[in-house]
Order: sequence, then structure tokens, then C-alpha cells
Amino acid sequence: MKHNMKEYYSRRAPDYEKIYYRDDEVRRKEIDGVAESLKELVTEKDVLDIPAGTGYWMEIMSQKASSIVASDLSIEMLNETKKKRFNCQTDYVLANINQLPFAKNCFDIIAVGFWVSHHPLQDLPELFSNLKKLLRPNGKIWFIDNNPPPAEFHIEKLIGKDEQGNVYKKRFLDDGQEYTIIKNYFTEKEVKNLFSISFKIESLTYGKYYWSVVAG
Ligand SMILES: C[S@@+](CC[C@H](N)C(=O)[O-])C[C@H]1O[C@@H](n2cnc3c(N)ncnc32)[C@H](O)[C@@H]1O
Repeated sequence: MKHNMKEYYSRRAPDYEKIYYRDDEVRRKEIDGVAESLKELVTEKDVLDIPAGTGYWMEIMSQKASSIVASDLSIEMLNETKKKRFNCQTDYVLANINQLPFAKNCFDIIAVGFWVSHHPLQDLPELFSNLKKLLRPNGKIWFIDNNPPPAEFHIEKLIGKDEQGNVYKKRFLDDGQEYTIIKNYFTEKEVKNLFSISFKIESLTYGKYYWSVVAG
């Protein structure tokens, strides 16, 4: 069994975006609703998308943003991103989210899609603080992540919790290879508490499948 998140996502890169196109009207509605408000948020802004993955959100943001820097630890993911067409200036930075290579005060918006659930709980305040330093005055951070949908249980099996409260799951690639990853889910109250410690929450949406937050 492997614990390597970078390898897990690199190997999933060609198929990763299937998660956005599941045959489920409620999911589609939630994702599309979030996308609409995200477009408004990034209008004429300089954006950091981290970790950018295959650039699903980047493509949406590029319809309105001035510029987007896509950063990810996986070159395979960034290569998927580069296959897309964007409507604004784009740059690509291979980097670990734990060692951010960006100058302070250089982004208006930071977009963080489906990462909070993978980041060790005890390290989230440090991550939030490091990300905040990259924002210009009045800059905002946007987050989206999963609520626990029963439909996902076929690809992941619960292993257990550590003493910090992190939940570990087994995930299987199509070739049967097993990986162990952190996947933490939050109640609405937990989302509120988590972000209130480091940010002023501007909006919080808690749906059936996804939660999203805009904070500054
Ligand atoms: C769940 S995906 C999210 C991708 C994208 N934000 C989205 O919403 O579709 C997690 C991403 O984190 C990347 N990743 C894994 N470990 C990382 C790290 N330490 N630093 C930066 N990116 C990392 C993976 O390559 C993958 O693209």
C-alpha cells in the first residue's frame, strides 16, 4: 500500500476530471452554482490556483480573470492543464503547497479546490497563514471541498483516524493499485469554525455534496 499523494494524483491525472462529470443532477447544479459565483469573484483579478490539478476551475475562472498562475506538485496534472484553452494570461509553477515559492502580496484571489480535505488538520492554520501572506490588501481566498457522498464509498475504504483527528482512507486506481490518503470531511459547523480561526468568512455554502467558502 502506498502513501504517496503526489504519485496517486499523478497517476490519476488523465482520468481525474471524471469527478466533475458524474451523472447526478444535484452535483451538477451545485458545481455550476459555485462556478457562477467564482467567475464573479475573480473578474479582472490576478489569481493563484493551487493546487490547480487539471485546471477545471482555472478554465472557468479564465473567462473573467485578468491572469491565473496554476501551481501543482504533479507535472502530470500541470500537463493536463496545459491542454486546455484559457481566456486570460496563464503561468504554470511546479511547487509543493507546503513550500510556496511566491512573493508576498501578489494575488487578488487564491483558489483552493479540493485540497483542505487532504491537508493534515493540525497543519491547516499554518497553510492558511502562508496563503494569506500572498494576498494583496482586500484579497480573498476561495475554497471548495467535498461533503461525504455515499456514492464515493466504492472507491475509498476507511482505514482509521490518527490522534490529530485525520481520517485515512484506502483509494484504488483503475489498475488495482492501492494508496492511503487523508480525506477529512467537515460538518457545516466545523467548516465555520475551521475558517473563522484564520479568516473573516464572507460567504459559506454547504450543499449536499460540496461546501465552499470565500474568506479574507
Ligand atoms: C483533489 S486534487 C484537486 C485539484 C484541483 N484543485 C481541483 O479542484 O480539481 C489535488 C491536487 O493536489 C496535488 N498535490 C498533491 N500533493 C501536493 C502538494 N504537496 N503540493 C501541491 N499540490 C499537491 C495533486 O497533484 C492534485 O492535482
